[in-house]
This record gives sequence, C-alpha cells and structure tokens, in this order.
Amino acid sequence: MDCRCILVTGGAGFIGCNFVRFLLETEPALEVVNLDVLTYAGNLASLGECLNSPRHHFVRGSITDAEQVRALLQQHRVDGVINFAAESHVDRSITGPLVFVETNVKGTLTLLAEARAANVRRFLQVSTDEVYGSLGATGSFTEQTPLSPNSPYSASKAGADHLVHAFHHTYGMDTIITRCSNNYGPYQFPEKLIPLMIRNARQDKPLPVYGDGMNVRDWLYVSDHCAAIWAAFRRGAAGEVYNIGGNNEKPNLEIVRLILRHLGKPESLITYVKDRPGHDRRYAIDSGKARRELGWQPAVTFEQGIASTIEWYVSNQAWLDQVTSGEYQAYYAKMYGNRDRAN
Ligand code: NAD
Ligand code: TYD
Repeated sequence: MDCRCILVTGGAGFIGCNFVRFLLETEPALEVVNLDVLTYAGNLASLGECLNSPRHHFVRGSITDAEQVRALLQQHRVDGVINFAAESHVDRSITGPLVFVETNVKGTLTLLAEARAANVRRFLQVSTDEVYGSLGATGSFTEQTPLSPNSPYSASKAGADHLVHAFHHTYGMDTIITRCSNNYGPYQFPEKLIPLMIRNARQDKPLPVYGDGMNVRDWLYVSDHCAAIWAAFRRGAAGEVYNIGGNNEKPNLEIVRLILRHLGKPESLITYVKDRPGHDRRYAIDSGKARRELGWQPAVTFEQGIASTIEWYVSNQAWLDQVTSGEYQAYYAKMYGNRDRAN
C-alpha cells in the first residue's frame, strides 16, 4: 500500500521515535504526523533532528481525545494510522492499572472510530506477544495461539487487539495487528530490563533481578521491529495478524551478566529481589508468517545489537539525565526501595 501521509501515535516513545526516524530516512516522499501526549515515557529529546524535518509534524495530544484526532486526520489528509501510543510497562500496570485501560483500550477505540469516520485506508495496531500469556519450557506463540494475557498491561493490549479485530470484522475496516517480542536499542526508557541494568551497572548500583532470573524473553533489536511494522503496513493483508520476533530467547540472568561483562563490572552487583507478581515465565514467538508473507527478517544479531545498545547509552548520558530528571527517582524508590531482598 502506498501512502502520502501517515499518522504515527506515541512517536516520542522508545519504538515510536525509532520508527519516525526510520520513515523519514527510508521514505523520502512521506509526510509523518506524530501525535504524542508526552507522558513520563515520551520525550522530545528522543526525536532530535526529526523535529527540524519539514516532513515531520509533531503534535502534543492524546489518542483519547476524539476531537483532536478528528481535526488532525482532516487537516493532514492522513491515509494511514500506525498506533504505538500506549502505557507499556508491566510493573506500572500492576500498581496502577486504570490508565492502561484508558490509554490502551479507550485510546485505541477512539483512534479506530475516528480513522474509520475519516476513511483512513489502513490502520496498523502495534501489539505485543504478551497478549498470548506465558509458555512452559517448550513451544512458541503462533498467530493461532489463543489470547490469554496475565498482567493488566497485556490484558489492556489484548482488549485493544479485540477492538481492532472487531472493526475489521464488523465494519470491514482495513486493519493489521503486529505482535512483537521484547525490543531493545537506543532511546528505551530506563525502567525496562536492558537500559535499567546498563544505567545501574555504570553507576555501580545493585542490579535488581526478579525471582531466580531464569524468566525467558525473546529479544529483537528495535530497527528490525520498525522494518517489520513497515513491511506489514505496506505488504500485509487486511485483517491479518503478524507475529514478529528475533529467535533470541535468553534468560534474564544471561543478559544481565553480558551487560556486566561488556562494562567491565563485577557480578557481585547482581541482587536478587522479590519476584514481580504474576511474572510470565517464558515468551517465544514463531514469526514464520511474517518472514514468508512479508519478506521480512531481522538484520541485527543479538551480539551486534547489545554491543551497540550499550555503546549508545554510554555515549548518550545527556539523554539519560534528561529522561530521568522527572518522576523517575520517585518511581525507582517506590519500585526497588520497597522490594524485599530475596537473599
Ligand atoms: P513507550 O512507553 O516507550 O512509549 C509510549 C509512548 O506513547 C510515549 O511517548 C507516550 O508519551 C505515548 N503515549 C502514552 N499515552 C498516550 C496517549 N494517550 N496519547 C498519545 N500518546 C501517548 O513504549 P514503547 O516501548 O515504545 O512501545 C510502543 C508500542 O509498542 C506500545 O504499544 C507497546 O505495547 C508495543 N510493544 C512494545 C514492546 C517493547 O519491548 N517495548 C514490544 C512489543 C510491543
Ligand atoms: P521488562 O523489560 O519490564 O519487559 P516485559 O516485562 O514486558 O517482558 O522485563 C523483562 C524481563 O526482565 C522480565 O522477565 C522481568 C525482568 N526484570 C528484572 O528482572 N528486573 C528488573 O528490574 C526489570 C525492569 C525487569
């Protein structure tokens, strides 16, 4: 599908800002409207030079605001919507689930309704493998795996996915859902595993590993996720779901040790803390359909990706200082100050 103007939501967040960069670099004729309300996780510093591009229009506002979304869709004659905007952190969803329903469910519904009313040609929902729930020691999620979300975050993302499906099934809207595994790379807020561990290790602070550290995630470098989303938007079939993953299953402890080795820090910084309530044990994703039907495959190995991510955080201390200057200290104290030490 060819488009002239895309509305990206949540484009000041981790994956969204990488995606805006990707579009501006790879699609020289495309206009990008970027709607982001700038929560703690959204930061204009993450958009850097994009803010000077005449093809990038940043608008501060919420996907829950129907009037603002309607005005934007009309003003820019948007022909495609890609929805990244979300509350995205599982731990925060455990202590405060309401905003997850407000943003992830109501926000997605508002966007869908306005996109439909404006005759937007295609709507892509950026979802997550967490909607499938947790796996045992073997197997992987396919697009046919029943949704069985366990955390308030994943439940709200599953709610959004159901609404996207309903808009396709009921109104014939052209929709796509992508479900990706854990991302890592530049501009990720340091509440998520990899940037949090890099930041703490550099400051010689304890590295808080939940439970026994043997929970498994499948990791994908963020630029590979961006390429997959764009491939799904351009070449995917209406109404379809595409799983996206890196075939990089790693226990958390292995990642934490790798980060310490890269930074030349001692393993004695590893601190086992009380487990996350309801902690999903293992995610693994079968992305065969995306590879076959979209012609997509990851370009960055885990070894390359983790090395360049660590390098990026080391070279971008100013960005880290800026994004942690707000509520981060209070969040960190609440999350990790109150956790019982397990050893
Ligand atoms: P993030 O938390 O870094 O960024 C979310 C962005 O959305 C922020 O810029 C925030 O300001 C914005 N936002 C929040 N509420 C909004 C609202 N009401 N209106 C407009 N903007 C709003 O998240 P991320 O890690 O970049 O994730 C982006 C999307 O990808 C999410 O939908 C998430 O569920 C999905 N996803 C993330 C991962 C991952 O590993 N990070 C993996 C798979 C899927
Ligand atoms: P996270 O980055 O929050 O992503 P998600 O929960 O969406 O997978 O966590 C990744 C894994 O790392 C998860 O198993 C929880 C674990 N984890 C820790 O052990 N310590 C931490 O401080 C954080 C943030 C996560």
